[in-house]
Amino acid sequence: MTDTLQPKPPLLEVAGLSRTYGGGPSFLQKLLKQPPRRVRAVREVDFRLRAGETLALVGESGCGKSTVARCVAGLEAPSAGSARYRGEQMENIARHALPARKDVQMVFQDPYSSLNARWRVGDSIAEPMKVLGVETDPAKITQRVNELLVQVGLSPEDAEKYPHEFSGGQRQRVAIARALSTRPKVIICDEPTSALDVSVQAQILNMLKDLQEEYGISYLFITHDLGVVDHIADRVAVMYLGRIVEIGPRDDIFANPRHPYTRMLLEAVPSLEVSHAIAPPPLGELPDPANPPSGCPFRTRCIHAQDRCAQTLPELSDTHDHRVACLRAEEIA
Ligand SMILES: Nc1ncnc2c1ncn2[C@@H]1O[C@H](COP(=O)(O)OP(=O)(O)OP(=O)(O)O)[C@@H](O)[C@H]1O
Ligand SMILES: [Mg+2]
Repeated sequence: MTDTLQPKPPLLEVAGLSRTYGGGPSFLQKLLKQPPRRVRAVREVDFRLRAGETLALVGESGCGKSTVARCVAGLEAPSAGSARYRGEQMENIARHALPARKDVQMVFQDPYSSLNARWRVGDSIAEPMKVLGVETDPAKITQRVNELLVQVGLSPEDAEKYPHEFSGGQRQRVAIARALSTRPKVIICDEPTSALDVSVQAQILNMLKDLQEEYGISYLFITHDLGVVDHIADRVAVMYLGRIVEIGPRDDIFANPRHPYTRMLLEAVPSLEVSHAIAPPPLGELPDPANPPSGCPFRTRCIHAQDRCAQTLPELSDTHDHRVACLRAEEIA
């Protein structure tokens, strides 16, 4: 009775999420008397995914995007913090196959990682439905597989084929049909189009947008391509060395980037309107993730860095919807 008075929890909430790899020294490191290599791949990441929106997670290779994706999908446990779907930890949902598991699906860059090469694609598409008990009647499963194939621009006859009989773009369509099979509320897309030709990429992105409109799906969309972000995202989170350094509405971030790193990324793309170009890496070397700089992680490549940037770790200022982690954000605006 009091339900309507309770504030709804966000669909997906990531709070203080951290993931560290490598603990004690490996056998080789012991043999060579080297110190263990400990990488804090993701550090205190916070964000919320709202119903029906696309949040893009961007940043250079190695900044921790896929690690966030795996933790949010429940494929990996965080070292600290949590990723919750409707209040329940994703880790628990995945480990105990709770009913909510059908609500969160994942699409990877390489469809081979989600499609079994030895299975007919119809069986791959049907598998999540069977495993998660969404549908048990064989006739209904076949019917649903056919519908899904049509939905992603393929035909029911394709169900009998094997992954190698498709092009890269078609295989990604199959992987998307598989992800859709359980009628998910959230799909985590880890660079789903970066291995595809530009024209195929646009087709797949448009299809994902159409599916979102039709079914109200939320996407956590990982990419390093700002042209893709421009095309698909409602909000953007920029990651650097495991941390979110700026997050906000896409139009705001593109028109008024506040973090020097975001500016650098955007400046590297000559014209966003026509660009599907991959942003070249910013100037200077990315620090070793196992040995990040003190204070602001970006200070070693930042033209605005001052002494205090080496002393203090900037936190995301949380006054507006557009948040930035830079001590000098106001001064350099
Ligand atoms: N299983 C693992 N064991 C050890 N280190 C790992 C592991 N997975 C990731 N890392 C390290 O964690 C950091 C973040 O990696 P991650 O794959 O999340 O980055 P990414 O942003 O997805 O990069 P890319 O754009 O290249 O896919 C990197 O330094 C990486 O080497
Ligand atoms: Mg990755």
